[in-house]
Order: sequence, then structure tokens, then C-alpha cells
Amino acid sequence: MNRIFSGVQPTGNLHLGNYLGAIRNFVTLQDDYESIFCVVDMHAITVWQNPEELRRHTREVTAAYLAAGIDPTQSIIFNQSQVAAHAELAWIFNCVARIGWLNRMTQFKEKAGKHKENASAGLYVYPNLMAADILVYKATHVPVGEDQKQHLELARDIAQKFNNDFGRDFFPLTEPLILGSATRVMSLRDGTRKMSKSEASDMSRINMTDDADAIAQKVRKAKTDTEAMPGLEALDDSGRVSEAARKARPEAFNLIGIYAALADQSLPDVLSEFAGQPFSGFKKALTDLAVEKLGPIGAEMKRLMANPDHVDAVLRDGGERARALAMPILKEVYDLVGF
Ligand code: ADP
Ligand code: NA
Repeated sequence: MNRIFSGVQPTGNLHLGNYLGAIRNFVTLQDDYESIFCVVDMHAITVWQNPEELRRHTREVTAAYLAAGIDPTQSIIFNQSQVAAHAELAWIFNCVARIGWLNRMTQFKEKAGKHKENASAGLYVYPNLMAADILVYKATHVPVGEDQKQHLELARDIAQKFNNDFGRDFFPLTEPLILGSATRVMSLRDGTRKMSKSEASDMSRINMTDDADAIAQKVRKAKTDTEAMPGLEALDDSGRVSEAARKARPEAFNLIGIYAALADQSLPDVLSEFAGQPFSGFKKALTDLAVEKLGPIGAEMKRLMANPDHVDAVLRDGGERARALAMPILKEVYDLVGF
């Protein structure tokens, strides 16, 4: 059976983008793939994390996985730091990957900002750890958003070079699983920026734990223009929002894309339904839909967080099962390397 690995960083503020772009898809994928869902706490510390907050956020991501419907008896849910094989394989990959490869990673340039020499060394070699996350299980597929495609490419390069260096067809060339079209959720304050955990304003994102009032307020205040709802004329020949239309009204099309994703409807259906109407009515419908879909998940997350024994037990059990899969593969790697 094909195997997937994917992860979310425990850096707080889990939002609608994390849900629609990642977690919701994990729930569907677990029926078709042997699934390993990780809370990537070792990735999180590539930038400073307060230790108590890190612990709380690790539980929060786990709670989100469970509340969204990932079944921990079917899939493996665990946190990365508990399976040392990730770090051990990452060290070997640090010695396989070339500096020139890492220098091409655009996310490092974005995250390190202007003063690259002040970024942690971990942030720089982060893609090697990500390759280890995937390959220590010989995962065949990885569900990825746009932002991770370059890193998966690097994981394939590392697998290929390792196989070449050690003369064995050992690691698979892991394939990306690109999911749905409306998976890129943008900020509610600026439709050209990704909705993100790190944007300062809480009004920029709908958090997975937001209650109905918070969701209503954020949707009501979400930036839009004064024009009526667009219709089918906004679509290009392939049925997607044309580049020109999106550029002219990025915030509007972001909200419409969110609605379509939450409702599991196609864009043409949503556009025909609301065409020509004022935005206020659409925002009301979007609020109701978001509350209906996210409300129960947020409530369950809070319930799980209030008494984290269950969450901790899931992580412990998942860690053991992950270790059992990773250790034999790591052992073979050590043999090949000459350890
Ligand atoms: P963030 O990017 O918010 O810091 P992570 O890096 O932990 O979150 O990403 C977790 C998952 O959520 C990844 O699969 C990522 O592609 C997805 N994701 C994050 N932000 C968005 C977004 N705005 N729209 C769609 N998917 C997103
Ligand atoms: Na990300």
C-alpha cells in the first residue's frame, strides 16, 4: 500500500488555511493511504519557541488532527522529536545534500529576512530534515501545498544522490499529492498574502478554535471592495478565476474560494449562485457556513485541550508505532553508510 507522510508545525494560531490546505485533506487521504501525520516540533524550533508554548501548541495540533477526524487507530499521529530516527537520518542527509542545493531554497530567503547570518543554522538545513521525515518511512507520496513543492523536489534530489552514492535503489522518489484547487487561503486583510500563523493581526485569519462570534466578526470585517459579487465572466476557459479578475479583486475571490472549499462546491456553482448580489449577503452565508464547518471542530479541540491526557496518550502510542517503522529503515541506511 502507498504510504504518505505529512506534518504541521506547532507554532500556534492554527487557521482556516491549515485546515483547508492540509488537515482536512489528511482526513480523506487516510482511507486510501497508510498515513503518518506528524507534529513537526523540530521544525518549529528553527525559529525561537517558548518551551511552554511549544508544548501547548504540540497538543493543539494533535487536538486539531483528532477533532478534524483523523483516526489515531488507523493513522499514526506523533510528534517528531519523539522519534530520534528523523534527526539521525537528517544528519546523513546534511552530508548528502549540497550547499548549492540549499542556497536555491526560496523559503529560507523569505524566512531568514534581511540578516541571513542571524538566522539559525537549523533554518538553513531545514529542508534536509524534511527529506529525512519523509524518507525515514520511505513514504511514496506527500500531500503538499505550493509552498512546499520546492522542498519535496529537494527530497527527491537527496534520495537520488543517496541511491547513486551507495549504489542501491534504496529510497523511493517520493511523489507530491497536489490536492484540490482552492487550497491556497489568503489573508482576510490583504488577499495577495497567504493566511498565516505569523501575521500580526488576528483579524487576518480565522482560527480553528474561533467561536461563532469571532468568525462572524472577522468575516464581516474582511476587506472587500464596494462592487457587487462577480459572476461566471470571471472564469477563464479552464473554469478557474482568470488572472486578470483575481488581480482586480483579490480579496473578493479569496472569500469566494473559501466558500467553495468549505461548501465542497465548484467555483462556477458558487459564482452563479451569488452573481450580482451585494457582498453583505454573501458574507452572511459565508459566516454561517464557516460556523457550521469549523464550530464543532473548534469545540472538540477545546475539549481535548482542557484535559490533555488523551492527546498525550495518542502521541505516545503514535511515537512507538512510528519508531517501529523507522528503525529498520535507519538500520539499513547505517549499514549502507558504513556505520
Ligand atoms: P504556516 O504556513 O501557517 O506556518 P505550516 O507551515 O505548519 O503553517 O503549514 C501546515 C500546512 O498548512 C502545510 O501543508 C501548508 O501548506 C498548509 N498551509 C499553511 N498556510 C496555508 C494557507 N494560507 N492556505 C492553504 N494551506 C496552507
Ligand atoms: Na508553511
